[in-house]
Amino acid sequence: MEQKKPLLEIQQLEISFGRGAGVTRVVTDVSFSLGEGEILCVVGESGSGKSVTALSILGLLGGTGRATGGKILYQGRDLLAMSPRELDGIRGPEIGMIFQDIMYSLNPVIPIGRQMTEGMERHLGISRREAEEKAIRLLERTGIRDAAGAMKKYPHMLSGGMRQRVMIAMTLACEPKLLIADEPTTALDVTIQMQIMELLRDLQKETGMAILLITHDLGVVAEIADRVVVMYAGQCVEEAPVHELLTHPAHAYTQALIHALPGLRDSRERRLYSIPGTVPEVYGDIPGCRFAERCPLAAGCTRRKQAEMIQIGEGHYSRCAEGEVKEA
Ligand SMILES: Nc1ncnc2c1ncn2[C@@H]1O[C@H](COP(=O)(O)OP(=O)(O)O)[C@@H](O)[C@H]1O
Ligand SMILES: [Mg+2]
Repeated sequence: MEQKKPLLEIQQLEISFGRGAGVTRVVTDVSFSLGEGEILCVVGESGSGKSVTALSILGLLGGTGRATGGKILYQGRDLLAMSPRELDGIRGPEIGMIFQDIMYSLNPVIPIGRQMTEGMERHLGISRREAEEKAIRLLERTGIRDAAGAMKKYPHMLSGGMRQRVMIAMTLACEPKLLIADEPTTALDVTIQMQIMELLRDLQKETGMAILLITHDLGVVAEIADRVVVMYAGQCVEEAPVHELLTHPAHAYTQALIHALPGLRDSRERRLYSIPGTVPEVYGDIPGCRFAERCPLAAGCTRRKQAEMIQIGEGHYSRCAEGEVKEA
């Protein structure tokens, strides 16, 4: 397969929170790239560093959070070196972002229709009327029935699920080249979730945008991803094309994640499995394999002390190859 030119390239990203003696590194070695038009999913349990990685791309970490190492190249330019003003120009028409928690993303005093059309007029150079028609069509595609009516409402008049769909429509309305979506459907019911995922996939085909989708749902990953990055305790631990990852997971952690998913595996084996233990709370300075203390395969493992990324196959990288052996 021809290698597409990377649109986004994250190189050895390190993210820290806190000041002085209280600095904690929460992301220490995250590298991956995303080609134009590609759908890349980032998976991993809660607390792996997925959201902070996504937030750092547009400088949205807030508080004492900051990138303390590495580069985030967008079309070859380092976003980490840009001023907030330069980043503002990129956010919207270049990179759109849908958050997990959208409560603070909508302006409470402007009707949602106007919030949508304002950005579209500015970024797409279309008239207000065109923008309105487009906004209504997009709202309808997210499953909002009375889209014209919803346009006139203020955010507080809508349910949480409706607001999330509005947010999604609003972000997509500016036709970003790259969409970053952090668990965009977690708060929505299953039917709407599927509808939104289909919408993302359809719009990806129509517009050719690239999507960086963060999810803990491997079912969604199987449906939508081209490639997958697995994160654990602030690091990328495995990366592979989606089919390869789901059928030949190399990392014991990836294998455990797949085991925990009912349905993808043989239906006779439909026991509900969950990975014992939890992601350690502070992990930035754990040497070697950070999964070792939870790993069922740690006993005979030779890579425990030194867990650098190694190449397993074409486009397939992992910090561990123990999982492969187990897959019999
Ligand atoms: N504002 C913050 N201040 C301090 N630590 C934070 C902050 N936000 C996130 N973290 C820490 O960063 C780590 C990764 O969190 P996060 O990116 O939210 O994980 P995920 O999205 O994979 O569930 C966690 O250990 C979390 O405690
Ligand atoms: Mg998160």
